[in-house]
Amino acid sequence: MFSLSNIDLENLINDRIIRRDIIDDTKGERVIEKVSLTNKKVLIKYGRDAGILNEVKVYENIICAEKDPVPKLLISKKLDNDTRLMVLEWIEGVHPDFSDSNDINLVFSSLGKWAGAWSYRIDNLQKEYEETLPNFKVLHSTLQEYEKTENNCIGKEIINLLNKCLNYSEEVLEVINKSPLTLDPGDISLHNFIIDSSEKVFFIDFESTKVKPMIMLLEHLGEDYESIPHTLTNIRLAMQTFLNDWNKAAKESIGWEEFEYCQLCARVYYKIGKYNYWIKRILQGKNVQETMGWIKNDEHQMQELLEVLDKRYLHY
Ligand SMILES: Nc1ncnc2c1ncn2[C@@H]1O[C@H](COP(=O)(O)OP(=O)(O)OP(=O)(O)O)[C@@H](O)[C@H]1O
Ligand SMILES: [Mg+2]
Repeated sequence: MFSLSNIDLENLINDRIIRRDIIDDTKGERVIEKVSLTNKKVLIKYGRDAGILNEVKVYENIICAEKDPVPKLLISKKLDNDTRLMVLEWIEGVHPDFSDSNDINLVFSSLGKWAGAWSYRIDNLQKEYEETLPNFKVLHSTLQEYEKTENNCIGKEIINLLNKCLNYSEEVLEVINKSPLTLDPGDISLHNFIIDSSEKVFFIDFESTKVKPMIMLLEHLGEDYESIPHTLTNIRLAMQTFLNDWNKAAKESIGWEEFEYCQLCARVYYKIGKYNYWIKRILQGKNVQETMGWIKNDEHQMQELLEVLDKRYLHY
């Protein structure tokens, strides 16, 4: 774990420090702090993991507070060969409460606007920030590896479900790839939005930013995460709000039915990513009991998802 002394930090940002509060130093390779200076507060983020290096690149080259609802980048410095420091404007506000329809409206409307506006702006970014959507390929090889171990702890039913998913891989990827490209800030969750007192929504955290089909911003809607809208009513509200603002701002507009089917495909893709992670843990012998518990818990959802996909595929 590394840290910056007060004197080093004061020299770097050319200001006097009144107070420092650690926000997160649990990841060994990067630290986040709230820092009070003589006449303002700032957020500093420094480190050398892949996430912060990508985030620095995104702040320096792509996004800017004049055009985008993001904090101002005040200072960006190289601390040594592979360590970077960013000083960002401190945004005073609160994280959204996704059990509240007003907050869902605010955030998903901003997200729709963001995705729509970026559909015009990604032209030169595709190569550098490309996403190759590898989950099905990874599943295929992971299942082969699992079969070789002659281990049957996962159970036939789930393996059959996953093989059924593989049969849909071409269709699912084709549908996802039909949705227009945009800039996906990555990790859509309540922790990565701040709403200020005038109800402006700020996007923070660009560690996983990539150019992706727009539907991928909503790939995890439907999962039981507290950090995203997760009741049926709230998921629908989030999707409708998002699509409404996307259609006002984007190059190409999309109809509701097509959008819903596309989100279903994105969700199947996302789910496969989770199963890949779980099966790999089992293959590595890491917390097998705990991981099996997660799989058992999810099995019902996976089954339902495939049933809906079966129906929609035939209907389409
Ligand atoms: N500019 C800012 N103004 C105010 N608070 C901020 C700002 N940037 C980040 N934060 C706070 O710090 C938290 C962590 O920041 P951020 O999301 O950028 O880091 P992270 O590496 O993604 O951490 P995590 O993995 O916990 O999401 C945010 O959830 C938010 O509460
Ligand atoms: Mg975050």
